[in-house]
Amino acid sequence: MKLCIDCDDAALSLKKVLYESLKDQGLDIVDLDYAATKENPFYPEIGYHLALKIQEGSYDRGILICGTGLGMAMIANKVEGVYAGVCHDCFSAERLKKSNDANVLTLGERVVGPELAQMIVTAWLNADFSGAGSAPKVDQMRALERQSFQRDPLPKESV
Ligand code: RB5
Repeated sequence: MKLCIDCDDAALSLKKVLYESLKDQGLDIVDLDYAATKENPFYPEIGYHLALKIQEGSYDRGILICGTGLGMAMIANKVEGVYAGVCHDCFSAERLKKSNDANVLTLGERVVGPELAQMIVTAWLNADFSGAGSAPKVDQMRALERQSFQRDPLPKESV
């Protein structure tokens, strides 16, 4: 599994902890470090940059961190084919993959400590999409996404 990670200026410490811990576990992870390309970037452009990498297939999953995880989730979900959720507990992180098939996890450095953040990331990375009853729901999400991006218009009454 190819992983990438990035953060804004509110989450530099947590990004370092997570990147190093995942590297130490032998995982294939790249720090996209968008901030190295531009002075003082805001979270939307950082999150958008990572989301485009997921969309183009360069990475299987991405981790985005900001102060709360909220802004990063919002911007990542603006990119077609990217499904992001903010998680600050292990149960939600596991369900984020099993039920929702998310390819991006977001976290807030101002919300969770580094130990819990590592457990949350592990719960998400160890989970697989369960398919079964979740499959038609995720399929519907993708169909509505296509409609939203006007690639596959559906009649209004079908929603
Ligand atoms: C700081 O810019 C803060 O707004 C940001 O890190 C994030 O929490 C936004 O959702």
